[in-house]
Amino acid sequence: MKDILTQLEDRRTEARRGGGARRTEAQHAKGKLTARERLDLLLDEGSFEEFDTFVAHRATDFGMDEQKYPGDGVVTGWGTINGRQVYVFSQDFTVLGGSLSETHAQKICKIMDMAMQNGAPVIGLNDSGGARIQEGVASLAGYAEVFQRNVLASGVIPQISVIMGPCAGGAVYSPAMTDFILMVKDTSYMFVTGPDVVKTVTNEVVTAEELGGASTHTRKSSVADGAFENDVEALIEVRRLVDYLPLSNRSKPPVRPFFDDPGRIDDSLDTVIPENPNMPYDMKEVIGKIADEGDFYEIQAEFAKNILTGFIRLEGRTVGVVANQPMVLAGVLDIDSSRKAARFVRFCDAFEIPILTLVDVPGFLPGTGQEHGGVIKHGAKLLFAYGEATVPKVTVITRKAYGGAYDVMSSKHLRGDLNYAWPTAEIAVMGAKGAVEILYRSELGDRDKIAARTAEYDTNFANPFKAAERGFIDEVIMPHSTRRRVCRAFASLRGKVLANPWKKHDNIPL
Ligand code: HXC
Repeated sequence: MKDILTQLEDRRTEARRGGGARRTEAQHAKGKLTARERLDLLLDEGSFEEFDTFVAHRATDFGMDEQKYPGDGVVTGWGTINGRQVYVFSQDFTVLGGSLSETHAQKICKIMDMAMQNGAPVIGLNDSGGARIQEGVASLAGYAEVFQRNVLASGVIPQISVIMGPCAGGAVYSPAMTDFILMVKDTSYMFVTGPDVVKTVTNEVVTAEELGGASTHTRKSSVADGAFENDVEALIEVRRLVDYLPLSNRSKPPVRPFFDDPGRIDDSLDTVIPENPNMPYDMKEVIGKIADEGDFYEIQAEFAKNILTGFIRLEGRTVGVVANQPMVLAGVLDIDSSRKAARFVRFCDAFEIPILTLVDVPGFLPGTGQEHGGVIKHGAKLLFAYGEATVPKVTVITRKAYGGAYDVMSSKHLRGDLNYAWPTAEIAVMGAKGAVEILYRSELGDRDKIAARTAEYDTNFANPFKAAERGFIDEVIMPHSTRRRVCRAFASLRGKVLANPWKKHDNIPL
């Protein structure tokens, strides 16, 4: 018996060695942790239950029968994050570059199936050279099996991808179908094909960082949702993110202890809006003053900064926030901000996370760049996302709510549950200057007349009361009481029941 126990321990030790000391050293030399070191940091201490430690590939071509590693380049299983269950896979770059073989894929699929059945998120730590070249179509089939599960799991369990090394070819498409992608700066890349192939095909010379580094994907392509300095920071951030999320669409988001009075009054909000309507202010400051302990977990912080998306807690409960940011492009809605916010709203709705919308928007950005880029279709994504969302929706208009953007930003007409406005709100088809120029074109030469017309327009529309008279605004509130109002609003909506008509699925303008 003792011999058998020793044998098991020896086999485990061998599996834990991965691709061997030399390759582990090389991994460390690049500033990267190994697959197992990463899991140790991600999961609660001692919580990891490993599966398929001894699974090995069955390939024989290209001398593969000589290159077998127990576990086949991926460590899989489940563990807990702050006591809540998550399924994990962590690719081991020291084993054949973390490349995906048929059996490597089967291991990932196994934990994805378990996660779906048992209702817990899947977190993938990706560090892979893509399809294992020696296995040909078998590895492509393996990828497709993973992709299919990504699709079926979408909206059922949260799926989080952390990109912690090169991810090429098939290795990028599975993360692309998950809910959140976090990258590590300087050591992680995502591209369909790398710089060498790019050079051959298009003659374009580009570095891996420029082509698909963390900066490119968080600032330009918006493929990734966040970038972090190193493996440790990225894994700590995943733990923070998971804390906001429900385990599946069958469970509610977690309720955490909170140490902030839900009735807290913040007088500084009464003076946050500048006297001059064209002056910006930082909407992040407003979010911080509403949130429990001022904590805001931002998603896509570096992309389309004219809109803010992320999670806060109110009375310990997760709330998704979408807010126009007047500091960037005056908070205008455009293609990028509409896409960013629409995806976030849909995530929240899929997982029953209530949505707080803070509005200060001068409208949609005009111009050929936007029109030719399809702002109609992209703007419609956000309209559609808000319109189909059945979660509790609370809206606060702090200043401008002009034109179509008023309708889009979780207005009463899109089934906003409680729509508040600060007294500084301006709700109209457009700003005074534009309106007067259209309505009184013949008087444009007469400065006094135009000034009088502008003042008249401002008196009529540069306030929230016209909308409040019609009930489109449920109440005009004091800025200092916003946290109390919003907390009470969401508390009153905890029993909300609302369903959309039956359909196979909708046809959101993609
Ligand atoms: C098998 C691979 C591999 C792969 C790397 N390795 N990629 N083995 N299949 N796809 C092995 C290497 O042979 C090497 O083995 C070890 O992993 C480390 O690789 P290096 O090249 O030494 O490391 P590095 O210089 O850091 O470069 C990493 C890399 C590069 C950028 C990932 O290896 C690379 O470009 N690999 C190929 C990427 C690729 O084109 N994959 C196929 C994509 S097509 P030793 O024994 O020396 O340690 C695809 C199709 C799916 O995925 C499509 C589905 C839609």
